[in-house]
Amino acid sequence: MSGDARKTAEGLSYLTGFGNEHASEAVPGALPEGRNAPQRAPLGLYAEQLSGAAFTEPRAHNRRSWLYRIRPSAAHPRFTRTANGSIRTAPFTETVPDPNRLRWNPLPEPAAGTDFLAGLWTLGGNGDATQRAGMAVHLYHANASMERVFSDADGELLIVPERGGLLLHTEFGRLHVEPAHVALIPRGVRFRVELLDDSARGYVCENYGAPFRLPDLGPIGANGLANARDFRAPVAAYEDTEGPVEVVNKFCGNLWTATYDHSPLDVVAWHGNHVPYVYDLRRFNVIGSISYDHPDPSIFTVLTSPSDTPGLAGVDFVVFAPRWLVGEDTFRPPYFHRNVMSEYMGLIEGAYDAKAEGFVPGGGSLHNMMSAHGPDRETFDRASTAELKPQKIDDGLAFMFETRWPVTLTPHAARADHLQQEYDGVWQGLTRNFRI
Ligand SMILES: [Fe+2]
Repeated sequence: MSGDARKTAEGLSYLTGFGNEHASEAVPGALPEGRNAPQRAPLGLYAEQLSGAAFTEPRAHNRRSWLYRIRPSAAHPRFTRTANGSIRTAPFTETVPDPNRLRWNPLPEPAAGTDFLAGLWTLGGNGDATQRAGMAVHLYHANASMERVFSDADGELLIVPERGGLLLHTEFGRLHVEPAHVALIPRGVRFRVELLDDSARGYVCENYGAPFRLPDLGPIGANGLANARDFRAPVAAYEDTEGPVEVVNKFCGNLWTATYDHSPLDVVAWHGNHVPYVYDLRRFNVIGSISYDHPDPSIFTVLTSPSDTPGLAGVDFVVFAPRWLVGEDTFRPPYFHRNVMSEYMGLIEGAYDAKAEGFVPGGGSLHNMMSAHGPDRETFDRASTAELKPQKIDDGLAFMFETRWPVTLTPHAARADHLQQEYDGVWQGLTRNFRI
């Protein structure tokens, strides 16, 4: 990354809070007072509702926004199919689900001129996008800003940058996203990704299911984990441009394209709760044990997409953030385990405390349903004999997409050159210590 190439995203304003009603206008008086769709919206704008929930879902879960725009979204030409590139969508049926523990190195360098959309590479997923259930794991590696505009009817996009800053131009305004931030683009919201550095790399969870929300806190109380006030929504900003703009729509697994005669990022004012967010993972308030053992990693849940079964998430987004370990008589790294849920892990920076090597920033691992995993031999030996004084884990930022169903790979992920062939070896040498 060259310092010279960095563009600025300074000076952006934000609205704070998650899930509540926000309102913003880029031009004073653009937002109607007292009604959503007046006979004539202010300033000659068109009123349009964007629904992220069924009209009749309970108030606590209902999502919708009202957009006041220069042209209604309906004013567009016919969409036609375009190539899907390396993007795939559930149901994933081209490979059989793999019980093996799998790990990948970072994506290779893309060809020059690869934008965020062209740089999206699907690792795998589960469920069925047409049933609005399940999720997909994507990675991206891009070296050009998008000129086109993208929207995803199949799900919301949780973008997890690992390298390179992004400026997301959305219908609702602009979000500045850096590594260690995450951005959440709701289903159907149009956006364009501008790179702030020479290249950008990271991860995307495409969530087909219920929109991500903050987890309930139970006995933790009213504060902690990801605090709602740290989520930032953009203030309204619009493009009033005429001329051809390519708009790509992901719909039931395929990309469709149309050339508009104007920018669709033309929302002058909006209000609602179906909005994009950015969140700084360093704001996560880590809760943990101050006696012995350590809680299950669910204690690190940033966002959860609930299923119809209480407590069973379609997918959780979990962060392993810097924290103190103080447990007495405790094996402090993640323990050996087999999980009915399936775990995709990535690394944003530094190292992860359960692996000595091989799990690198930009890479990832997949531990599918009931696969046995945990610390490697070197970590086990070290942690089993370490002096248990208070210890700060502050040299890494890892995350997990934990999902209710096994992740089935795309053929290109199953055959990738950057799939590590020797991952099982990290658990070799865990010899018997049993003595009587
Ligand atoms: Fe695990």
